[in-house]
Amino acid sequence: MSEPAQSDAFCLAPLRGVTVRTFRNLHALWFTPPDCAVAPFIPTFAGEKIKPLLLKDVDPELGQAVPVVPQVIGKDPAQLRTLLRAFKAMGYDCADLNAGCPYPFIVKKGRGAGLMRDETSFARMLEAGCEEMPHGFSVKVRLGIDRSDLLAARMALINSFPLREVTIHARTARQMYEGAVDLQAFTTALEACRHPVVYNGDLRTRADFLLLKMRLPQITRWMVGRAAAVDPFVFARLTSEMPPPRDPVRLKGFLDDYLAACEEELYGPVSVLGRMKELWSYLHQSLADGERIWKGVRVCRALHEYRRVVDAVFASFPGFVSDVALRGLHPDGNDSTCFLIEVPHEGCDDHHERP
Ligand SMILES: Cc1cc2nc3c(=O)[nH]c(=O)nc-3n(C[C@H](O)[C@H](O)[C@H](O)COP(=O)(O)O)c2cc1C
Repeated sequence: MSEPAQSDAFCLAPLRGVTVRTFRNLHALWFTPPDCAVAPFIPTFAGEKIKPLLLKDVDPELGQAVPVVPQVIGKDPAQLRTLLRAFKAMGYDCADLNAGCPYPFIVKKGRGAGLMRDETSFARMLEAGCEEMPHGFSVKVRLGIDRSDLLAARMALINSFPLREVTIHARTARQMYEGAVDLQAFTTALEACRHPVVYNGDLRTRADFLLLKMRLPQITRWMVGRAAAVDPFVFARLTSEMPPPRDPVRLKGFLDDYLAACEEELYGPVSVLGRMKELWSYLHQSLADGERIWKGVRVCRALHEYRRVVDAVFASFPGFVSDVALRGLHPDGNDSTCFLIEVPHEGCDDHHERP
């Protein structure tokens, strides 16, 4: 008898400053939530004493509406163990290692994607992680640093540890978050990997999902990052042929709650404004006339100004852009199979809705 087909699982990506606990919890309250989330990275540090603030984002006692996996960035195995023990004390049996952060000052220090360059350091981190969290340790990587063949070269090493899963962002570190994802190099790495693989990179719309499913039929785990901030309705829209229309009233409710929660949680209006602007730097992309709206939000210098601008947006709501405008994977670039995808309901007809 053949195995039943595994259903697809969607994970919210770690985005530092964006997919923080308050965002994750309120997102789950107002929208269809993901199946799980990886929390933004927590850096390792010297010494044994952990500042509670460092762990606040993943503290289960503060409420985690979505099953969350804490993530660590660092290159010192002893320091990694200290953090993993703290996670275990909080009840976690899973954690993730960031081996994909592309920022040059991080990579230069051998952290993030820089770990992939130094095989010995990488091996020590994977070893420490798998010892501390047997069967619960995972790693998030890129295809490489300057070239997209480094990951394939590291696969024997990655395969030699009992990892829970490997998330692959289908770009090199040099690309940062721009330019085409490389599905060819992703497939090469996927075929060499003996662990469950999570796909990550530019998955934004149902059309992207169908394209990726066709290109990568073995994949059932998907990580969605920026799209969750651009279009908070994304998880319902990825999983359904006929998702309910996006509702501006829900979006406004979420934004109001998020602002209130940030005011409680952060110190001072500058931090609160910063957090809201960070979200709007993505969110505006899903709104018609988004650039003009973003300009209005970006220049706000006080919370009362911010409230006025956002209230005005929703008082005469401009509508949502169509899925065609939101797509992450484009038929130009190097991916000719995009042309083959027929997308029912693409650009579902909710962009003229008003509250
Ligand atoms: C602002 C920002 C912050 C990020 N923070 C993290 C992080 O803390 N840990 C991590 O592994 N990746 C981080 N990433 C990378 C994302 O998790 C994800 O790999 C990337 O956005 C690509 O996925 P997407 O195309 O679905 O957005 C970050 C990306 C951005 C844009």
